[in-house]
Amino acid sequence: MSGGPFRVIEGGRTGEPTPGLLIVGAAEIATLAGGVRRGPEQGAVGRIVADDPASPEAPVVASWEGRIVAVGPRVAVEAALVADGLPLARFARIDAGGGALTPGLVDPHTHLLFAGSREDELVLRQRGASYMDILAAGGGILSTVEATRAASEATLLTHGRRWIDEMLTHGVTTIEAKSGYGLDLETELRLVEVAHRLGREGPIDVVPTWLGAHAVPPEFRARPDGTEAYVRHLLDEQLPGIAAHGRARFADVFCEDGVFTADQSRRVLEAARSHGLSPRLHADELAPSGGAELAAELGAASADHLATPSPEGIAALAAAAETDEPVVATLLPVTTWFLMKDHHAPARAFIEAGVPVAIGTDFNPGTSPTPNLTLAMSFACVNLRMTPDEALSAVTINAARSLGLEDEIGSLEVGKAADIVIWRIPTTARIPYHPGADLVRTVIKRGRVVLDRP
Ligand code: NIG
Ligand code: FE
Repeated sequence: MSGGPFRVIEGGRTGEPTPGLLIVGAAEIATLAGGVRRGPEQGAVGRIVADDPASPEAPVVASWEGRIVAVGPRVAVEAALVADGLPLARFARIDAGGGALTPGLVDPHTHLLFAGSREDELVLRQRGASYMDILAAGGGILSTVEATRAASEATLLTHGRRWIDEMLTHGVTTIEAKSGYGLDLETELRLVEVAHRLGREGPIDVVPTWLGAHAVPPEFRARPDGTEAYVRHLLDEQLPGIAAHGRARFADVFCEDGVFTADQSRRVLEAARSHGLSPRLHADELAPSGGAELAAELGAASADHLATPSPEGIAALAAAAETDEPVVATLLPVTTWFLMKDHHAPARAFIEAGVPVAIGTDFNPGTSPTPNLTLAMSFACVNLRMTPDEALSAVTINAARSLGLEDEIGSLEVGKAADIVIWRIPTTARIPYHPGADLVRTVIKRGRVVLDRP
């Protein structure tokens, strides 16, 4: 299934899980147990360190039929499994070889599905064009829309698999995938359907988000009231069609000066919620546009980008953070770098205000063409000044929370899905320390080995 140089275990997309798995020999386990991380807890990764990974006291993780059933010292776990009627002979043993163990990583913001390529824009930006200049001239998102409308379902499936396979090599076991390069009902449905199908075929889970409000398409731009007319089309046609299709879990809007105003974004997201789609936003990516404030007002699952929030926007997210339903600040530091900005999302201000911070790749053909979530962790550390432990929470439990999946994935805790990464490094502190490097040895998805590089 993989075109890469690495051996992918047979059955990665279709095989049955082994009933039991016991992962021994880890130098360290970052469990991330205990729920969403915020404020001083953002960097509390629940680390268990082994003095000697081979000792009977060294920490292990056990799973049964795809669920975690025990985390703790080996002898105690083995005794508990036997006492629970789970014979050790039915557990495949994997030796982590002195590597670190973490939950499978979660990428909470990708534009996985698109056609075409936009390397020219890198050169245009070098010559001084801004992202918004390129979009206003009909390039940017609009050039990807043209290519994507012409792409078949089969082409999009092949493209999706190619990038999912690579995400997996960096330890990612769940992603969010937005539509947004169709901007008409037919193509938006195709994108959401392909995202859904890719998740069903595995090996990673894909959470589809409808992003019909990504840009105003060319056929509406020609009109004097084009943006408003497109918003009405979103409300009257696209959204009801997407909701009836029943695959998209979230709705997203590019709330930004020159794209959709906070008021237009509110109308789309409130309507989406009434159709059962939970709101999230592209908020304040390029200029303060009221996105953070709107995310707080709506109680959105997540406000994303936040490279340029207003002081009021930060305060609104801080106030939301004091409730039981905090809005996750999903920061996308590769994007700011790739757009050659010298101003980054104020991650420290969010953490100090108690706002839970997640990190994503924003994988897309314009502003962040990398599928590597561990690279995004490096940028979070270097440019946003997050600690390696804070960045790890941001790509596990907090990213899971931003997708409403914090009870299912994002930590190594009894009852959760056995989505586990064995790293080729003894401590997770080295993940962001080697930007872009291949650091993953084995990936386990729901108790099944889906990638292995012994
Ligand atoms: O998150 N800003 C809006 N959407 C994407 C970029 C999409 C594109 O340029 O194709 C982003 O940066
Ligand atoms: Fe994005």
